[in-house]
Amino acid sequence: IKRITTSILRDMKSKGEKISMLTSYDFSTARILDDAGIDVLLVGDSAANVIAGYETTVPMTLDHMIYHAASVARGAKRAMVIADLPFGEYQGATEDAYKAAVRMMKESGVHAIKMEGGIEIIDNIKKIVQSGIPVCGHLGLTPQSIYKFGDFGVRAKEEAEADQLRKDALALQEAGCFAVVLEKIPAKLAEEVSKSLTIPTIGIGAGSGTDGQVLVVNDMLGITQEFKPKFLRQYINLNEEINKAVKQYISDVKSVTYPNESEQY
Ligand code: KIV
Ligand code: NA
Repeated sequence: IKRITTSILRDMKSKGEKISMLTSYDFSTARILDDAGIDVLLVGDSAANVIAGYETTVPMTLDHMIYHAASVARGAKRAMVIADLPFGEYQGATEDAYKAAVRMMKESGVHAIKMEGGIEIIDNIKKIVQSGIPVCGHLGLTPQSIYKFGDFGVRAKEEAEADQLRKDALALQEAGCFAVVLEKIPAKLAEEVSKSLTIPTIGIGAGSGTDGQVLVVNDMLGITQEFKPKFLRQYINLNEEINKAVKQYISDVKSVTYPNESEQY
């Protein structure tokens, strides 16, 4: 099987073929998503929310991200694997950001990293890209800055913030980013930015005009219960399915119908 690469993603954009991306945090799920033909697996720091049960992604550590990233990388045969650098690892000195990126690449085996932000971190992105590490940008609602925003509402609705996002997107492309995630911004703005860039855009809550889509896998499979934003399409209610299966198991154990003759040695 031929591995999806940054140049394949760029070709897909130029041909108008949409890019499919889902998050993944563990080997078994990564294997299922990869077998189904997903183009890109994102080891998101949303692991903080859906795996670790934190309210925000702020507490995520580099060590934890590397553990998740390595697990996903071992499960993906065809998909390109991108891992988030967590909060605090790349917003300061360029040398520190570079070291965090190198650790992620060497210790996890993923193919690229993702960093939230625009012009304010552009020097750090340039250094990492120049060292040979593919970087995916992330603009709009950037959850690591949630305490600055105050809430998880739609970003760049006002012209000033929309204009800054346009500039940031261009700066990320010029810095050498191979793609950029656009999260929770007006569909019209996302489409405009997507058309203005040569690198692919991947949207989440950003409408259909982006070059690809990403969702948090636990949300689209219906494992998560509380989180139901308008942009989320739930493809299966796994919460319900798992609940049914576990109830059946409990009942079988209590009634000694599990294990049966053929299920023992
Ligand atoms: O961590 C994450 O899941 C993400 C996507 C929502 C883009 O960054
Ligand atoms: Na993230």
